[in-house]
Amino acid sequence: MTDERIVPMRLQRFLARAGVASRRGSENLMTAGRVCVNGAVVTELGSKVDPLVDVVTVDGREVHLSDGHAYLVLNKPTGYLSTMHDPLGRPCVERLVPTKRYPGLFPVGRLDGDTTGLLLFTTNGDAGQRMLHPSMHVWKHYVALVRGVPDKADLERLRTGVMLDDGRAQPAEVELLSPSDPRVAPVAPEGIAHAHAVVGLRIHEGKKHQVKRMLKAVGHEVVRLHRDEFGPISLGDVASGCWRELTEDERRAIERLVENQMPKTRRKA
Ligand code: URA
Repeated sequence: MTDERIVPMRLQRFLARAGVASRRGSENLMTAGRVCVNGAVVTELGSKVDPLVDVVTVDGREVHLSDGHAYLVLNKPTGYLSTMHDPLGRPCVERLVPTKRYPGLFPVGRLDGDTTGLLLFTTNGDAGQRMLHPSMHVWKHYVALVRGVPDKADLERLRTGVMLDDGRAQPAEVELLSPSDPRVAPVAPEGIAHAHAVVGLRIHEGKKHQVKRMLKAVGHEVVRLHRDEFGPISLGDVASGCWRELTEDERRAIERLVENQMPKTRRKA
């Protein structure tokens, strides 16, 4: 289904969103006369299309958007609430994402105000709600700078499921990251300080302050926390405070994830 709120759109953007080529590559296809809209060659870079009605072809093959919804990832800086509005006027992630271009954009889940990293946004309410459902078991990877150096026993407790005040956490995948690991940089850009360590932790639960509580339960307070993966999506090299749209492959991966969890009666034939 296409979301009419984001149309009409520029033809090169449509082609890029459909996974044909990058925005620049799509422009090259257009100027080379390989793109038609409703049967007519379009070389004008400012041309717009309505994905609901226009038939776009590249070299004679029809091109479609997989769905008209927007999906993007923000590299959340510290100091922002993961909400689109705060009654107290505190800074919200709403300020950092293109809400005018994509009305209805909302964050899929939350990060604490002092947590940085990958926050997925979409206009697809159904997919967003599904990904948040505990039965989905969406894996998330975090990198935590902690006080002290967890020993084997600490790591094992996290791996088998540490006890929290609201019940046992599900087993996590845990590793100590070496200072040379590029994943360390977001939490320890100046290197790992004395008497600290950096832990990589993959979990599929999303309880409040889950990672901080898990690490505290084994005696290691979190000093900085960063998320670099959410399900099939990796943050990549998005700068702090910036966002990028998902690639077509990533959109398909999200669709597959959500589709696999649909009750059988709602699955597409
Ligand atoms: N776990 C936490 O403790 N905080 C976050 O922001 C995310 C996961």
